[in-house]
Amino acid sequence: MAEFQAPTGTFDVLPPASARYERLVALFAAHVGRAGYGLVVSPMFEELGVFQRVGESTDVVRKEMYDFEDKGGRRIALRPEGTASVVRAFVQHRPTPPFKAWYVAPNFRYERPQAGRYRQHHQVGIEALGTDDPDLDVEVVALLADFYKQLGLTRVTLKLNSLGDAQCRPAYRQALVAHFTTKTLCDEHKDRIEANPLRILDCKREPCRAASADAPLQIDHLCEPCKAHFDTVQHGLADLGVPYTLAPRLVRGLDYYTRTTFEFAAEALGSAQDAVGGGGRYDGLAESLGGPPTPGIGFGAGIERILLACDAEGVFPAPTTTIDVFVMDTTGGAGARRTAAALRQVGIRADRAFDHRSWKAQMKAAVRSGAPLIVSIEPEGWTLRAADGDREPTTPETVVDHVRKRLQ
Ligand code: HAM
Repeated sequence: MAEFQAPTGTFDVLPPASARYERLVALFAAHVGRAGYGLVVSPMFEELGVFQRVGESTDVVRKEMYDFEDKGGRRIALRPEGTASVVRAFVQHRPTPPFKAWYVAPNFRYERPQAGRYRQHHQVGIEALGTDDPDLDVEVVALLADFYKQLGLTRVTLKLNSLGDAQCRPAYRQALVAHFTTKTLCDEHKDRIEANPLRILDCKREPCRAASADAPLQIDHLCEPCKAHFDTVQHGLADLGVPYTLAPRLVRGLDYYTRTTFEFAAEALGSAQDAVGGGGRYDGLAESLGGPPTPGIGFGAGIERILLACDAEGVFPAPTTTIDVFVMDTTGGAGARRTAAALRQVGIRADRAFDHRSWKAQMKAAVRSGAPLIVSIEPEGWTLRAADGDREPTTPETVVDHVRKRLQ
């Protein structure tokens, strides 16, 4: 065993498996790019306060954050999620709304590692700020639903809820506190009813589950504008043919949500870690980070979980080959050097042999590369070989055209 291993709850992704990551991100970028979302790159760490402001009463912020003091004495936290960073950047730079951003980024949570739950995971996500039009909710949810479809996933279900807003939430919260005060709760939640009664709805421990069974639901306590908003969202999803089920107990793991919230579960994962993406509105978040009141909505989807779901459904396999041509050379190497460079210049993916190894060893490397074509440069002449054994002579002058034709 190597002396050093990747830290607990983290892992390395090496080729060829990493080609799936790459493809997933490229598909995502193209998909949301077509809807007008632009890439935002923000720091992997922020002032601790940024995250404290958005999730003071959540596990993600209270218990799982990687926070530390840097050498300049600043309190810093590794990003546990992407939304707070994007909204902090929005407040700092004030781009013209509507502001539509996408990202791919690592997130860090000190969780108990298990299948599908890591201490560093990666999300692709979008955030859209500047309008509370419910049709934006429809766009955001439908984009994620379509993305799973593009990957070939068929057994992903959408759970939809509304968490109300600053108008109707306080009364609901009070109703919930009143309800839970009369109940027996788990050790963790019995003293935290006031701090975040909604969390109890999400607690998996038996006393809390029993106590939640007949708890009041936000969906029955929505004010008129929230109800109208939610109705329009549902109508829009139905109009686009995006199936969903109402999940009035869906409570997301972060504090900032208002109105529409949603989560996609992969049935094929069949575990507690079946959430392959989730998100919702956060109409008060920009303001709580010191910006002007600005509504917003977005989602984050875990790349590792999505790939696990793809494995479970047998879709979106890792590409078997990442190169088109392998160049071998037993004449000294100059031919391989020039041919590989010339092929790459015209956009053909080419790899080559090194170390002046024997023809046999180079051929082995060529086969292992999975390339459908091999250029073999030998003292007897140049040959273009196909993986199926077919071969034809070629020359230094014609090899690029030859390869190009064969690949068409
Ligand atoms: P989240 O539900 O905490 O939301 O995470 C989003 C997704 O990231 C989850 O559905 C899951 O696929 C993946 N994920 C979360 N934690 C882990 C973990 N420990 N290991 C592996 N995968 C994980 C957010 O982070 C929000 N920022 C989403 C959002 C964007 N809401 C509005 N905009």
